[in-house]
Amino acid sequence: MYALTLLIAALGMVAAAPSSDFELRQVASVASVDRYTGGGCTGTVCNKAGSGDLYAGCNAIEGACQASLKLNYANAGCKVAIWRDSLCKDTAQFANVTSYDCYALGPPIKGISVTC
Ligand SMILES: *[C@@H]1O[C@H](CO)[C@@H](O)[C@H](O)[C@H]1NC(C)=O
Repeated sequence: MYALTLLIAALGMVAAAPSSDFELRQVASVASVDRYTGGGCTGTVCNKAGSGDLYAGCNAIEGACQASLKLNYANAGCKVAIWRDSLCKDTAQFANVTSYDCYALGPPIKGISVTC
């Protein structure tokens, strides 16, 4: 009986892991960019494992590849803007991404907002 209880508990844990994964994937990305270490979309591109995916709202940008970016896609009706702060609130210097051209602010890109 004890062994059976353990087995059921183990099965329960295995079943629980994929379901929480599944919930995370329910939040669909609405836009995607390639970010670069160098200005003018040169140098290393950071687009591994979906790190270029953007969600509705403010996306804080961490680590390398904050110098410039290029839009891959944005869902219809979604507006993409890049910011020099991770909260997407500093209006002093930001840019609206309205084409597939290369975008850079000068200072590092710390946030990318998507409004749909
Ligand atoms: C971006 O677009 C918003 C509204 O669509 C506008 O208020 C803002 O001035 C634009 N910013 C830049 C840097 O062009």
